[in-house]
Amino acid sequence: MTDFMRGRRLRGSAALRDLVREQTVRADDLVYPIFVSETATDFEPIGSMPGVSRVPEAKLAALMRELHAEGLKAVMLFGVLAENRKDAVGSDSLNDKGLLARMVKTAKQAAPDMVVMADICFCEYTDHGHCGVVHDHGVDNDATLENLAKQAVVAARAGADVLAPSAMMDGQVAAIRAALDASGFSHLPILAYSSKFASALYGPFREAAGCGLKGDRKTYQMDPFNGREALRESLADEAQGADMLMVKPGVAYLDILAQLRERTLLPLVVYQVSGEYAMVKFAAQAGALDEKRVMRELLGAFKRAGADLIITYFAREALREIAAGTFKP
Ligand code: PBG
Ligand code: ZN
Repeated sequence: MTDFMRGRRLRGSAALRDLVREQTVRADDLVYPIFVSETATDFEPIGSMPGVSRVPEAKLAALMRELHAEGLKAVMLFGVLAENRKDAVGSDSLNDKGLLARMVKTAKQAAPDMVVMADICFCEYTDHGHCGVVHDHGVDNDATLENLAKQAVVAARAGADVLAPSAMMDGQVAAIRAALDASGFSHLPILAYSSKFASALYGPFREAAGCGLKGDRKTYQMDPFNGREALRESLADEAQGADMLMVKPGVAYLDILAQLRERTLLPLVVYQVSGEYAMVKFAAQAGALDEKRVMRELLGAFKRAGADLIITYFAREALREIAAGTFKP
């Protein structure tokens, strides 16, 4: 019997499997999200995300130096604002002395060689928790665009290397591009959260960032059952000048990632969100699965589906395995 494929020929030893493995996850594929709190005095563990803490602003610089020493290349910063500093428009984030500007500046100064990405959105800074300006009909798209453009310039002035708009307002990439260009930042790239779904998997993030909200984001984030629409959204962001496109969440949306890979030449980014992380952590705590193996399998799957970069709360753990040479399925 020789007239069938003998795939097992290439699986016979660890060395052979290593030779023919199609994907690797590298240190420079990873982006680590950080929650920076202006009120915390020490690291505050986040109950719904075992292993992740809110970082007090005063300890951000030391953490950045540590991450740099560990070999991490990039971080994505989220602000955790004092409740009494939130308002209807999120004006703290439009201020050069606000938390967004301060944390970007601190991170960049502490680790100038690292890539500091700034999440550009308002839900962390508004008292209602929505991603923009709320009018009686809901979140007002075009009023929010003006503010997103201002916020991006604030982050750029503070030293952000990449602006990552996540509000899912139509036209946000064009608005931010124009504002950056007009303010002397035509060299700064935009990472567009282009296919961002209204997902229940963001639950732990909302606890982490202290940005729970009444209602939901279904009028601006995408319907999880829609795939073609996701491709239209992402390609629209490319047409508006996005430099990188993101799919978010990750593992439930690998089809979008793979299809997008076929349709764009831009770098693709996947965000393995808080709920995906929590599922693995809690299942492992319950003894239901091997956490590290599952982590490697999921991160490798993102690469296989077409991601160039992976934003993940597992970044530090993954990095440790990459450094030790043990990052294999
Ligand atoms: C804010 C934002 C969210 C996440 C990243 N940026 C929450 C949301 O849109 O509700 C989620 C990240 C995660 O769950 O890890 N626009
Ligand atoms: Zn938001």
